[in-house]
Amino acid sequence: MYCNLLQCQHFADTSVVSVQSDSTGEEMLGFISGYLIPERKNTLFIWQVAVSEAARGRGLALAMLQHILDRPQCSDVSYLETTITESNRASWALFESLSKKSHTALEKSIMFDRDEHFAGDHETEYLARIGPF
Ligand SMILES: CC(C)(COP(=O)(O)OP(=O)(O)OC[C@H]1O[C@@H](n2cnc3c(N)ncnc32)[C@H](O)[C@@H]1OP(=O)(O)O)[C@@H](O)C(=O)NCCC(=O)NCCS
Repeated sequence: MYCNLLQCQHFADTSVVSVQSDSTGEEMLGFISGYLIPERKNTLFIWQVAVSEAARGRGLALAMLQHILDRPQCSDVSYLETTITESNRASWALFESLSKKSHTALEKSIMFDRDEHFAGDHETEYLARIGPF
């Protein structure tokens, strides 16, 4: 929660929340947190992407990513990076779709290795680098 509050406070320009409102109230359907990499301000790093189960498969994650990229605060962004574990098919499909729709390449490499960085406790996180936009 503390981490999410910091993201909303300091990284709001590169994060987004999707909310559905009706007469009964509001429901959060999706959230993306991201930041501009401090030493490479032309690169948007996407930290977390989550869409509630009921709202998946309707283009919401893709629309939220595009929404961030279209903001004036991202006018100098020419690359997007994120990390994905090999088994996260939905996430690969999301970023492959963004790459295709933007007519840009997606390069894959190891960023954080299961044994070297996570002492065997977590799957390898692959860096997906998309661009140039
Ligand atoms: C990954 C996630 C955010 C995708 O959200 P979503 O709103 O359903 O994605 P979209 O509807 O925008 O789909 C984008 C593309 O990915 C594809 N896709 C989405 N989920 C998929 C799945 N489970 N299997 C295969 N393809 C999938 C869609 O078909 C679409 O491709 P297209 O544009 O070529 O038609 C969602 O599944 C989720 O919240 N997962 C759990 C959290 C997570 O793993 N986050 C990533 C790590 S932080």
